[in-house]
Amino acid sequence: MADSAAAVIEAHDIHTRFGDQVVHAGVTFSIDRGELVAVIGGSGSGKSTLLREVVGLQRPSSGQIRLLGEEVWTAAPATLNALRQRVGMLFQDGALFSSMSVGENIAVPLREHTRLSPATIERLVTLQMALVGLTPADGEKMPSELSGGMRKRAGIARALALEPEILFLDEPTSGLDPVTARQFDQLLLSLNRSLGITVMLITHDLDTLIGITSRIIAIGNGTVIADGPFAQVRHHDDPWLREYFNSRPAPRDAPTPLDQRPSSSQPLSQAPSPAPSLSRPQMRLPSYP
Ligand SMILES: Nc1ncnc2c1ncn2[C@@H]1O[C@H](COP(=O)(O)OP(=O)(O)O)[C@@H](O)[C@H]1O
Ligand SMILES: [Mg+2]
Repeated sequence: MADSAAAVIEAHDIHTRFGDQVVHAGVTFSIDRGELVAVIGGSGSGKSTLLREVVGLQRPSSGQIRLLGEEVWTAAPATLNALRQRVGMLFQDGALFSSMSVGENIAVPLREHTRLSPATIERLVTLQMALVGLTPADGEKMPSELSGGMRKRAGIARALALEPEILFLDEPTSGLDPVTARQFDQLLLSLNRSLGITVMLITHDLDTLIGITSRIIAIGNGTVIADGPFAQVRHHDDPWLREYFNSRPAPRDAPTPLDQRPSSSQPLSQAPSPAPSLSRPQMRLPSYP
């Protein structure tokens, strides 16, 4: 187990079996606070399963997972519940409740986990929507009335409602057109850079890998086959990785190459982001009773 004080996600020797099928045969990695890490791997290599295990939704067959310093799979239910409120999750399908307006969807975690007044919740929902580039008018709409990209933004706003320290996303740009996908990347980058949110995302999107990630973890054959910055993983000699990168010509105009990313001291207003300039203190929720 990595014992860096900065590590907020630590997975050690994870094994996962479904009947006779071995999905993970010893997966070990760790992610530090403030990193923006992508997990890549072939279809069915166990990426989504790994994410569910890390957030405490699915128990691995063996191994340890520590999230924000707590052992997820031995934690008392109350500890696990508190832990879940410190992380946000965007599932692969976005998963908004279709019978509720976008604003009501975003209010769900606040209604469930806080005793804030309806007026305060309404103000916070407006704030969260602004943060991801949605207007109050969008909040009135039903999910089916939004475009795919806007639905993903709404999903992010809901995942951000309790001000998570870590955001987990499963293939956030899949199904989006290239322009919307790059805007979404910039949104994630600005959340990471300006609010300091640690991001772990699963993706197949090479532009995302080049444009915004600080590190890539590749899984295959049930284990971690590569773990490092893009430039390093790009030239790894694993056959699947070679095929993956060779089958996709590197885009010529990556939106923000790693060496040109805004520094963490750069204010959000200067960061290449569609999100409005909101700083962490303005977002601070009142303490929960
Ligand atoms: N609850 C489950 N029961 C049985 N098999 C599962 C379950 N969840 C995932 N699997 C299997 O585990 C493998 C990995 O799935 P998944 O984590 O979704 O892969 P990925 O996200 O990398 O495409 C797949 O073969 C899938 O069918
Ligand atoms: Mg998956």
